[in-house]
Amino acid sequence: MRIDIITVLPEMLEGPLGCSIVKRARDKQIVEIVIHNLRDFSLDKHRKVDDYAYSKGAGMVMTIPPVEAAINFLKSQREYDEVIYTSPDGILFNQKEANNLSMKENLIILCGHYKGIDHRIREHLVTREISIGDYVLTGGELAAAVITDSIVRLLPGAISDETSALSDSFQDNLLSPPVYTRPADYNGWKVPEILLGGNEKLIDEWKHQQSLERTRLLRPDLYRKYLEESEETLT
Ligand code: ADE
Repeated sequence: MRIDIITVLPEMLEGPLGCSIVKRARDKQIVEIVIHNLRDFSLDKHRKVDDYAYSKGAGMVMTIPPVEAAINFLKSQREYDEVIYTSPDGILFNQKEANNLSMKENLIILCGHYKGIDHRIREHLVTREISIGDYVLTGGELAAAVITDSIVRLLPGAISDETSALSDSFQDNLLSPPVYTRPADYNGWKVPEILLGGNEKLIDEWKHQQSLERTRLLRPDLYRKYLEESEETLT
């Protein structure tokens, strides 16, 4: 898989996409992530990529030419499945969307900035608009890092024990069960007895019950989804 990210702040992405699982996946060539500085595509001698909005008080807006040049340059090299734009008014990102995107071959992520981008970019060049939550970030870079991280960890081989990505919270609309490590008794704070018994079948049942209970209490919205979808698979 290849992910091209277009941004005015490459340094904001290099950190989060240069460590841990994502770094290892890049080193193992499971994913190629290329970060492009939008200013490199500006024809302006000051490398300007924004301009005043037509309406008063709207702040600076990203202009079409550098964005179009960057996207066209990438598209001349290979075919892309999606051109994603990160924006608080996009579709809310979730695990299902991460799963879906992890099955694509080539993605472009365009990071929004300032007060937004000229709307014609969204109408003519972008194929998917994604928000990572109902709050406003300074720019789309952190959102692009979140989206990329959630996709990469799903790619085969990115996590040594493949089942661990599949058993993540949200994979089946359930939160993960709690986990524990040694010591079994820390000044009276005890690990649940069942985990010490070694009966894998009972432990799996306990973990599932814990997942159900935590989801019902902490995320009733997800719990309803879980019930609806398990009913659908039964019918
Ligand atoms: N840019 C600014 N805020 C954002 C958000 N919540 N999600 C995606 N991109 C953003």
